[in-house]
Amino acid sequence: MIVRSLFENVLKRRSCSARTVGNRLGEQLYSPQQLHPFTNSPRNQAPAPFPSRHQFDSQPVHNPISSFNLRLPHYDGYMPPEHTVSSKDNSTSAGTDPIALARQRLIVALDVPDAPSAIRLVDTLQGTCSWFKVGLELYIAAGPSIVENIVASGHNVFLDLKLHDIPNTVAGAVRSAAKLGARMLTLHASGGPVMLSAAKDSIAGLTNPPELLAVTVLTSMDAGQLHATGVGRLPSSQVELLAKMGMEAGIRGFVCSPKEVATLRSLTGPEGVLVIPGIRPAGSAIGDQKRIAGPAEALRLGASYLVVGRPITQAPNPAEAAAAILEEMSEAL
Ligand code: C5P
Repeated sequence: MIVRSLFENVLKRRSCSARTVGNRLGEQLYSPQQLHPFTNSPRNQAPAPFPSRHQFDSQPVHNPISSFNLRLPHYDGYMPPEHTVSSKDNSTSAGTDPIALARQRLIVALDVPDAPSAIRLVDTLQGTCSWFKVGLELYIAAGPSIVENIVASGHNVFLDLKLHDIPNTVAGAVRSAAKLGARMLTLHASGGPVMLSAAKDSIAGLTNPPELLAVTVLTSMDAGQLHATGVGRLPSSQVELLAKMGMEAGIRGFVCSPKEVATLRSLTGPEGVLVIPGIRPAGSAIGDQKRIAGPAEALRLGASYLVVGRPITQAPNPAEAAAAILEEMSEAL
């Protein structure tokens, strides 16, 4: 009870100030009625058309939501324009500033056991990071309000619940999650094409729905583990099979390891939203991750977003660690 009221006080303070700033910025382009109450992104903004591949080498792409001009890297992979929705991003005049562009593509994993610890981290990284991942540990401990509160503070949330159930149940869960304001949401590709289609259909009519990301093969699964579940293929070919199946079911977003990102990028083309964990900046501990890459390398391979947890959250100075990672990412942008 004490923790809860402490937390609510912290949130009240945090969300009010961030929202005021966000609203002021949003009002320059849109009336309040046109803006999403939490993200300050336009309510009825149609997604920008994707550029064709040959445009990628040279032309900047105008982003209608944030008014940034994204400078596209030489490889096909990039962040689809409609993903830049954070009012924090809008508060910078990013233009083609590589650090600001990197900030739009770094997701900090809030792998902490309770809401106060998560809010402390969001607070510490305020201004340095604009995306946070809420996974099962935090979500189960803190409840859906943690997502709403991080969103209300002007940041983007990637809700990593890895849904896997019968199609009707997953469709309902996706609808509920969408109401929280998360910008990305995971589900297991191995739930099958009907489950994936049901999930996609369940949010089809929504304004500003979350991007659905299919998890292919968990990075903790090797060939032996897969075999034990009755899958005879190697992890790499199972990833490819599940990604193709996901695309046929209308999913364009995937979570995969740095090892598979190049293959998935060639499968999805520029429209794929590829979210990559297993990122280790120079000099950081590898921990339990196996298939890793550096931040710039992962972007060059075709990653849209990088997920980084412990190298930031367990650093003596998380803001400095995040800034160093943005610096490394900027080499590829
Ligand atoms: O601390 P670290 O940078 O290893 O955290 C990576 C994050 O990405 C964790 O939240 C982990 O659960 C998540 N993740 C992963 N591998 C996947 C999917 C998600 O490491 N295949």
